[in-house]
Amino acid sequence: MILGIETSCDETSAAVMERGTLRSSVVSSQLIHKRYGGIVPELASRAHQQLIVPVVEESLHRAGITKEAIEGIAVTRGPGLAGALLIGISFAKALSLGLGIPLTGVNHLEGHVYSNFIEDPKPGYPLICLIVSGGHTQLVLVTAPLQHRLLGETLDDAAGEAYDKVAKMLGLGFPGGPVIDRLAASGNREFIRFPRSYLDHAGYDFSFSGIKTAVLYWLRDKNLRPVRLTSGQGETRLPEALCADLCASFQAAVVEVLVAKTIRAASEFGVEYLAIAGGVSANSELRRRLKEEADERRISLFLPAPEYCTDNAAMIAKAGELRFDAGLRSSHDLHAEPNLSIP
Ligand code: KG4
Ligand code: ZN
Repeated sequence: MILGIETSCDETSAAVMERGTLRSSVVSSQLIHKRYGGIVPELASRAHQQLIVPVVEESLHRAGITKEAIEGIAVTRGPGLAGALLIGISFAKALSLGLGIPLTGVNHLEGHVYSNFIEDPKPGYPLICLIVSGGHTQLVLVTAPLQHRLLGETLDDAAGEAYDKVAKMLGLGFPGGPVIDRLAASGNREFIRFPRSYLDHAGYDFSFSGIKTAVLYWLRDKNLRPVRLTSGQGETRLPEALCADLCASFQAAVVEVLVAKTIRAASEFGVEYLAIAGGVSANSELRRRLKEEADERRISLFLPAPEYCTDNAAMIAKAGELRFDAGLRSSHDLHAEPNLSIP
């Protein structure tokens, strides 16, 4: 019976997993950041501090157990916001000491990979996983449980970060991904051809700051910047149709690069399984295009359920379970590693 704890960014989350079966998963999203158009690290730490005890208690309650039934604790050790990670790690250490049970520190990015292993059917190995969130854009080759190789990553902004920044320029509020995704559905993706950065580079690295700047310059050249909210969130001075065309054109550029590199990696490494993870993997266009390409090549595509795309402790419990099975425990010297990457 493993308790998973995740506090790396703006979600306070706890989950209970019993022999691979999820018994409960509680995610408390911090809404305070919406007001600031982005995550404020100090406010995230304070909110985690208030939420960690009730969220863990709720996860035990929903699993129908008391804390004495927990046999191991898995906690995110990085990457993430230092102060936010510290809350989860300190809580996990204290609980582990108090109950006399083992602790294991989980790499948040590995957690995202294993969000595809929470529900059935599960992928086999080797597999290529595209991790796309507000903080990361990485292509990972997974040859066996816990055997990862980073093939490439973004050299500047993460894909989700580009969504959030473009949404801010258009006055669409935070986070930007879901609203751009929705508006893009009715827009013209050929309206503007934004740059497909790094598409033709041989490796698997990405770059999304160029496209973000291209949107900014386009708006500035048309005297449409800065866009201000008129009243309340989601209202913009841009005509809705123009906004939809911009969103569709921006999304087409981002998704084309993500899909092309992921499919190229799958072909080069000859994998039969493909998976995506992270907040941006909820994107409808990305899911649709990847599915088309994977089906054409008879590759099995795994898309996590929406609640496991964004940050959650169920994926940390799953990765933790694999770590405990492999005898990988952490000492109470475990510390936050804000810049941790996949080896
Ligand atoms: O994984 P996540 O919850 O948090 C981390 O960044 O670790 O991902 C959040 C990111 C945000 O940038 C948000 O705009 C993006 O995921 N996102 C989306 C969609 N839903 C969330 N991006 C594109 N399309 C979506 N439907
Ligand atoms: Zn994440």
